[in-house]
Amino acid sequence: MCEDRYLTFALGKGRLANKTMELFESIGITCEEMKDKDSRKLIFVNEELKMRFFLAKGPDVPTYVEYGAADIGVVGRDTILEENRNVYEVLDLGYGKCRMCVCGPASAAALLQNHERIRVATKYPLIAKEYFNNRKHQSVDIIKLNGSVELGPIVELSDVIVDIVETGSTLRENGLVVLEEVCPLSARMIVNPVSMQMQNKAITELVNRLRKKVLEA
Ligand code: PRP
Repeated sequence: MCEDRYLTFALGKGRLANKTMELFESIGITCEEMKDKDSRKLIFVNEELKMRFFLAKGPDVPTYVEYGAADIGVVGRDTILEENRNVYEVLDLGYGKCRMCVCGPASAAALLQNHERIRVATKYPLIAKEYFNNRKHQSVDIIKLNGSVELGPIVELSDVIVDIVETGSTLRENGLVVLEEVCPLSARMIVNPVSMQMQNKAITELVNRLRKKVLEA
């Protein structure tokens, strides 16, 4: 199939995809079609380079890559850890830097210290569970939320939250603080294991060119 020669990229929609296309442009990979801000199109092709790009919801990017619907994906490390898919993580792209943290009112520090059984609200149940069970050996009840997680401790749904902290403004404006850091985060490139074998030369070359650019930045 002639389509097989295309290298297909799944990009997490929004800011991340824009930053990724900026980085790709800096090594000569462009996709003019993608620049039309009013377009609702989801898939874009550069016939000359034999590359296809599609925009997906962040948490779906590892799914597309695991199943081989995309050879390569770009998404935050938070999503990679939470989705836990069979993909190779090949490059830290250096942007989208933030931290996964345990946050709450300052008074919740004692609950963490004493290893009490606490309630944890989060959009990232797997990351939270792994952190408390395997790293802290603390029993917790995880409550899955889909956003505005900072509300958890404020309305007494939970004692703490596990969430992304970037500038810290959301925490500050809601009277919460970082209590513990779970891990640093940034945008990562992931690759389908079969594509890595079948298109090894093209993928390795691309990753090397990107790595060089990222290190220069
Ligand atoms: C993210 C995250 C925090 C906030 C952190 O939420 O979940 O709430 O950004 O950023 P800050 O430290 O710069 O304030 P997002 O804006 O994605 O919305 P959400 O609450 O719907 O997840």
